[in-house]
Amino acid sequence: MPSRRHVLALLASTPFATSACSPSSAPDYAAAWRSPGSGEADPRRFALAHAILAPNPHNTQPWQVELRGEDEMLLYCDLERRLPFTDPLDRQITVGCGAFLYLCWMAIAHTGNGCEMSIFPDGAPDGGARLDNRPFARILVKGGPPTDGVDSLFEHVIARRTNRNDYESRIPTEELLNTVARAADAWMEPPPNGAASLAAHAETGPSQVAAIRDLVWRAFDREMRTRGAQVETYQWLRFGKAERARHRDGLYIDVPVPGVLRALGMLDEADIVDPESNANKRAAADWKRKVDSAPAFLWITTPDDTPTTRLLAGMAYARMNLAATAAGLAMHPWSQALQEYEEMADLYAETKTLLGAGAGETVQMLARIGYAEPAEPAARRDMADMFRT
Ligand SMILES: Cc1cc2nc3c(=O)[nH]c(=O)nc-3n(C[C@H](O)[C@H](O)[C@H](O)COP(=O)(O)O)c2cc1C
Repeated sequence: MPSRRHVLALLASTPFATSACSPSSAPDYAAAWRSPGSGEADPRRFALAHAILAPNPHNTQPWQVELRGEDEMLLYCDLERRLPFTDPLDRQITVGCGAFLYLCWMAIAHTGNGCEMSIFPDGAPDGGARLDNRPFARILVKGGPPTDGVDSLFEHVIARRTNRNDYESRIPTEELLNTVARAADAWMEPPPNGAASLAAHAETGPSQVAAIRDLVWRAFDREMRTRGAQVETYQWLRFGKAERARHRDGLYIDVPVPGVLRALGMLDEADIVDPESNANKRAAADWKRKVDSAPAFLWITTPDDTPTTRLLAGMAYARMNLAATAAGLAMHPWSQALQEYEEMADLYAETKTLLGAGAGETVQMLARIGYAEPAEPAARRDMADMFRT
């Protein structure tokens, strides 16, 4: 029997690791990534099969969909799948919804159909209110051809990943980084609904990269020491292959014999959220090595922070992640320093200064970018689970 110490060491050395193998009897956690939408005659269903592959915070997959009539679809946030402690304004969840919307929109174009997209068609939450039951987008499929053409980045949807491996020291060329950054900020000009334009930035300068690594690390460490944040994350950790296959969401942690470990109390919340536990000390060393391997960073800023702007930032991030995939580059967001909860306030302010964001501006996404071993796909629930009942 593995000792408690041994088990925790294993746990700690593989945070968020993934593996392509599932036990043969379990549902396939990665099925959604294989030939999405094949056999779907309805362009909306084809689009949804792709949209569910969007990047999203903690892989909660916070989306719900309603198909109306023959040609209309309404997209909603699944309010039960938000992260209220670390994302008290629903800003990041809305960014994830934007990524979902972008993949949906580009997939419809790929079917040869045009569509009309309205953002927050029944109005957006205002005055800093969180998301509510109203749709964040409405898409009306129209006969072809697609008015804005077909986005060639579509072909990278199934290869896109969040890559948490160690990165090589090789720095991507300025040309490549510019291509990725422009994929975010030049794709929708002018932005719809009178929203303000966003800006994407890339940094490779050694002293600035070192400063960002340091800040990102301090924010990560702060989060590990913030109980509310840790408890929230714990709800979304999936230990072992069977648990991942059962939930098909959340963040995977590759542990051996999780059933036995659970029975022994070794995967208990108390251990996992304790910053001083052996598990977390080793995990921290692992994450520190990862951030210190970052050769470059990319970030997106917006001049305001309305729900519509957040949605557009998510669309832009999805496009940036796809462009990185097309360029053979790995990407990995580090969002802790961008989060708006009290315990993070000083580092949040420091980040804005370091990244040159003005007083009214918001840093919507911050990610390392570079070269790394390929990452395995993250789990996805079935498209059928996203339909509103
Ligand atoms: C708004 C937003 C914030 C994110 N922040 C982080 C983060 O801080 N750390 C991290 O490892 N991944 C982060 N991610 C990546 C998600 O965890 C990832 O998209 C999700 O687990 C699904 O995996 P996939 O992108 O490989 O499909 C973020 C994604 C989004 C859209």
